[in-house]
Amino acid sequence: MQKYLVTGGAGFIGSNFVHYLLSKRKDCQVVNLDKLTYAGNLENLADLKMEARYQFVKGDIADEACVDQIFKSGIDVVVNFAAETHVDRSIENPTDFIKTDVYGTYVLLEAARRYGVKKFIQISTDEVYGSIEKGSFRETDPLMPRNPYSASKAGADRLAYSYWATYQLPVVITRASNNFGPYQYPEKFISLSVTNLLEGKTIPIYGDGRNVRDWLYVGDHCAAVDFLVDQGKDGEVYNVAGGNEKENIEIAKEMVCYLKGSQDSIQFVKDRLGHDRRYSLNADKLKVLGWKPKSSFLTALHETLDWYQKNEVWWKKIKSGKFKQYYQKQYELR
Ligand code: NAD
Ligand code: DAU
Repeated sequence: MQKYLVTGGAGFIGSNFVHYLLSKRKDCQVVNLDKLTYAGNLENLADLKMEARYQFVKGDIADEACVDQIFKSGIDVVVNFAAETHVDRSIENPTDFIKTDVYGTYVLLEAARRYGVKKFIQISTDEVYGSIEKGSFRETDPLMPRNPYSASKAGADRLAYSYWATYQLPVVITRASNNFGPYQYPEKFISLSVTNLLEGKTIPIYGDGRNVRDWLYVGDHCAAVDFLVDQGKDGEVYNVAGGNEKENIEIAKEMVCYLKGSQDSIQFVKDRLGHDRRYSLNADKLKVLGWKPKSSFLTALHETLDWYQKNEVWWKKIKSGKFKQYYQKQYELR
């Protein structure tokens, strides 16, 4: 029986991963450590209340005592998803990004070193490379993060690597592209846009709408992380790409079309500060190891839009709470 510590398991990707793990690996136990920030939501895991192999701990990855207590119970594998994740929020106030993404990762690495875990998966991001006009980033390319979120993730990414290089802690680092799918907090481009459209509101497109992101279905990301727990080589970095590079405006038009809205619901607004133009990953390393994504982009996008249509209660509760005040302020600023 392998015991996993999944951090940030009440968030978007983390909750999808907890579900993936418990259904795929019958011989595992999962401890989910989550601070329940604005982005953490136990409703994402409501179906696991009676699952004996699953345990939830409310706590901060930057809290040494709390983290030590969990490792004391015996942890084999750590998957560190916990982070502040929204670029716009990091531009407004980077403090929590440094505390969680950098210092919190350090606290986990130290505990993992003290207790000797078998694998530590650090969930990094393609944003650490910065923007690229042509071509695609490889794992060996230099990091050039351009906003406080990606800079804090780059710090954590390299700190994790240093624990391999210095202490031989068995660390594997993943750098995935933009995820989409069920349970994504409705502040990110696709989740915000679909829920806005369902509310009869507009999609706010930053700048000229021609920024490019590579979209990865969250189920594929979870499968890649699970694959790397077994197959990832210690001390290595793996790009996880969706292989679906699209301009934001293209995605917006597709969402409007699928939901039978009016193209007038696409509204151009003031650009994000320092907005990265294009993200692009070369994922050959992971392919050579034996993994590639399964989902077709359009099918996964349509299924995601269907999910938000069917799960109004989930996102309406979020959008009528603290999100409302935050978003109204953002909208006025633009
Ligand atoms: P999210 O914002 O939906 O969830 C983050 C979770 O972490 C929340 O449940 C939150 O409560 C928890 N958390 C925050 N601070 C914490 C702390 N100090 N201690 C414990 N828990 C804390 O994020 P997400 O989109 O699911 O991203 C998960 C991870 O994947 C992040 O590390 C992110 O950088 C990385 N990532 C995300 C994407 C993407 O497109 N969303 C792509 C590549 C990598
Ligand atoms: O690339 C991986 C990263 O993807 C993750 O590491 C981050 O945690 C995640 O937040 C995401 O970052 P982005 O900044 O790429 O995602 P976001 O959904 O905020 O924006 C996607 C694109 O859409 C980007 O070009 C900005 C644009 N955008 C975003 C929002 C929220 C809009 O045009 N309008 C919007 O309202």
